[in-house]
Amino acid sequence: MVAATQQEAPAPPTRRWRQSAAVGALATTLLIICVLALIGSPVLLPALAGALVTVIAALSRPRAEHKVWAEISSQETVRAGIQAIVSGVADPVVVLDSHGNVTMFNAQAKAALPQLGIGRHLSFAVRSPEVVSAVERVLREGTVAEAEFHEKVPVERSFEVRATPVRFDAASAGPPSASLEIVMLFRDVTAARRLERMRVDFVANASHELRTPLASLYGFIETIEGPAKNDPAAQARFLAIMREQARRMSRLIDDLLSLSRIELKEHVQPTEEVRLDSVLSEVIDTLTPLSLECRTKIEIEGMNRTQVTGDRDELIRVFENLIENAVKYGQSGGRVDVMLVDGERAVSVTVRDYGPGIAPEHLPRLTERFYRVDVADSRQKGGTGLGLALVKHILNRHKARLVVRSELGAGASFEVMFAKPAINEPA
Ligand SMILES: Nc1ncnc2c1ncn2[C@@H]1O[C@H](COP(=O)(O)OP(=O)(O)OP(=O)(O)O)[C@@H](O)[C@H]1O
Ligand SMILES: [Mg+2]
Repeated sequence: MVAATQQEAPAPPTRRWRQSAAVGALATTLLIICVLALIGSPVLLPALAGALVTVIAALSRPRAEHKVWAEISSQETVRAGIQAIVSGVADPVVVLDSHGNVTMFNAQAKAALPQLGIGRHLSFAVRSPEVVSAVERVLREGTVAEAEFHEKVPVERSFEVRATPVRFDAASAGPPSASLEIVMLFRDVTAARRLERMRVDFVANASHELRTPLASLYGFIETIEGPAKNDPAAQARFLAIMREQARRMSRLIDDLLSLSRIELKEHVQPTEEVRLDSVLSEVIDTLTPLSLECRTKIEIEGMNRTQVTGDRDELIRVFENLIENAVKYGQSGGRVDVMLVDGERAVSVTVRDYGPGIAPEHLPRLTERFYRVDVADSRQKGGTGLGLALVKHILNRHKARLVVRSELGAGASFEVMFAKPAINEPA
């Protein structure tokens, strides 16, 4: 908890100080009265009355001061209690005075808003016009205000902010606005907003991917029914294209269904023992026609009888996509290496191509659904952009990792690592 800096309070006068002040006042007055009596002054009586008043005032003043100090110390107790509550809240909390300056905050607030400082205006830490105007609204209207703010740098994040007016010191003198303070509660909604955006993007992408081949099908049906009605050669050509489009749509639907099926059972680890060399041989056999078409040779290395715990069909899917990608996108390199390594701590399979490579800004996003470096190129090669998303979910289920390394112009390598159970850990 970062405590608010509070003004240094002067120590209350001691009892001894109060007594000596009264004694001093009394002695001085008596001295003056003695002098007046000696010289037979006519102001003796008024002086006696004045002395009496002075002594009473000197003795009674400490009681009023005592009351003020009691109030200050009870305010301090209240603020210390508030600080303790603020520090106990799990979300970031900031307290502002009636000018919008920070008087308290908790450690979570400092972590989320590093520019926060006691006595500084909130706008130093939160550069959001929405939040600043919410604070102004609270001060103006004395009611709760809510706002949301988003930041893109240094990292993307979103907060929901609730600003509540409070009066910690209801008994304070002065205009009511002077004692008004604002408790600001910040709720980190970054993950929720990201999920929402992904859901919206997903629906938009899926419908777009389906709409494109569908529109082409409609177009060809109209042509066959109209201008190409009596042209069997054109009809045969169009029907071949239509079959390809229909195939693409059904592949997209299959991939989407596979994704949701795998997501459903992602938390259940497979139990089968699978020979990786046999999986890789089967995949390479299936991809031979494609590799011939792309004039790319698939070289295999380290094919031993290594086993991992997994689901054979799902692992076939993983390596089919990785090797197919390497052949399709890396065909300019003319060669793809598939290496199986049975290491001490992990079994790894690396698929390496010598094609154009992938720019670093794309690497973190490759496993997102529908993410493609070059959408037109992928579509033209029959891709739906779901392959690596499937790979990621299947590997999550296998507790395996995917490491992608690439440099523009230097090809790409996709390494899948299956951790081996520790010696004394049950397999
Ligand atoms: N070896 C590679 N070299 C260059 N780019 C690659 C490579 N592998 C993947 N990519 C890029 O990553 C994108 C995503 O790959 P992913 O396998 O998810 O989708 P896809 O191949 O386009 O479609 P699908 O796998 O559904 O047929 C590809 O579109 C391509 O742009
Ligand atoms: Mg692919």
